[in-house]
Amino acid sequence: MQIVLIGTGYVGLVTGTCFAELGMDVVCVDKDKAKIEGLRKGVIPIYEPGLDAMVEANASAGRLKFVEQLEGTVEDADAIFIAVGTPTRRGDGYADLQYVYAAVDEAAALAKPDAVLVTKSTVPPGTGAEIKARIAKSHPEAVLHVASNPEFLREGSAIEDFMRPDRVVFGTDHTKAEQVLKQIYYPLEDKATIFATTVIAAEIIKYAANAFLATKIAFINEVADLCEAADANVQDIARGIGLDERIGSKFLQAGPGYGGSCFPKDTLAFLEAGKRFGVDLSIVQQVVHSNDKRKDELADRISSLVGPDLEGKTIAVLGLTFKADTDDMRESPAINLVNELHERGAIIQAYDPQGMEEAEKIFGNKITYCDTAYCAVENAHALTVVTEWNEFKAVNLEKVKELMAAPNLIDLRNLFDPQRVRELGFTYSSIGRN
Ligand code: UGA
Repeated sequence: MQIVLIGTGYVGLVTGTCFAELGMDVVCVDKDKAKIEGLRKGVIPIYEPGLDAMVEANASAGRLKFVEQLEGTVEDADAIFIAVGTPTRRGDGYADLQYVYAAVDEAAALAKPDAVLVTKSTVPPGTGAEIKARIAKSHPEAVLHVASNPEFLREGSAIEDFMRPDRVVFGTDHTKAEQVLKQIYYPLEDKATIFATTVIAAEIIKYAANAFLATKIAFINEVADLCEAADANVQDIARGIGLDERIGSKFLQAGPGYGGSCFPKDTLAFLEAGKRFGVDLSIVQQVVHSNDKRKDELADRISSLVGPDLEGKTIAVLGLTFKADTDDMRESPAINLVNELHERGAIIQAYDPQGMEEAEKIFGNKITYCDTAYCAVENAHALTVVTEWNEFKAVNLEKVKELMAAPNLIDLRNLFDPQRVRELGFTYSSIGRN
């Protein structure tokens, strides 16, 4: 089985490497010359636990190659996966499909008959049909099949998610395409349910899954607000409802609001898709609103401990990435928080185990970049934990308190035991656990 992956971003690189790990011959193509040269030398452009070793092993075994051009590569492929970015389009929130269509055009001109063109990128419902129409128009001679194979990987646990998925979903328009995808995913058949459906259904499944998970998070975050007002512990509520198997215990951790490259982008694109089909997805609309509002109000949580005037106050921020085990800062709640603190005149000292490089691009000289958590808390009037990195759970709180100017601790991830931190002398606020 010859597989070509177009795009070596997060999804393309992880998927291509995992296909190679399953024994297939994989070529990853990307127009970014520097990236490809780096990958050939084993330089991985993203932080993802375990990925570097897997790339190296499969590249050495000759199953995983990195090239800059489709020409000379795609002609032999049985399946061509498109894994290019689909960023939010400015103005309407819809997914920008220009990179997908550019890849389709290039591949259609070169692919062999009966090859399957698979969208791995998250694309709005109806894109598969548009791709088909586009190929029929521009390359009427091409005998290509169109398929959708959404990915459900999480950053930070992407390899495990790929190798042990809950399910694999693909949608096809032809039995030949279904056979090819079944063959590709055959090695996972005893570990996961392989669900074959139509192209449009597969496209909707991806958005509906992310919108549903985003809804769960926004929901528990609002319940956390209620718990703060009513003096209950949101973790008890999450456990109490999560034990009902119809609800499930996962994705019920209250926090600073969801971020990342997927939920914020995909919920907006889903709303736009609803509009195009004339359907009001009002629940998703409310989820987006609730999450945006939550992220915008994070600085108030600091003011409620430190006082309304943050001018000249030093605030330590631990964790800048949108979650732990990634260097990704896209749509991170830390961005809203830091910008608002800066606006209010606070001096910000920040540390993140993997996110510092990205942070510098986003914040420039708005903040002081620290090498350790202890350096960040020096002379701080408050410490805010934004990301649930393990190293923060293990921080020496006695030492932290000694270093700070005032012992205010705002724990947006519920990392610490409230009783213990209060016994240590901190004024402590966490999420939904008054
Ligand atoms: C998400 C989905 O979980 C993946 O299944 C999907 O493949 C991916 O988007 C995608 O569409 O590519 P990811 O964005 O990597 O994965 O991260 P998650 O672990 O889902 O976390 C998203 C956000 O929700 C983070 O900000 C996280 O802190 C937050 N979250 C998650 C909570 O606040 N509470 C929870 O209980 C879980």
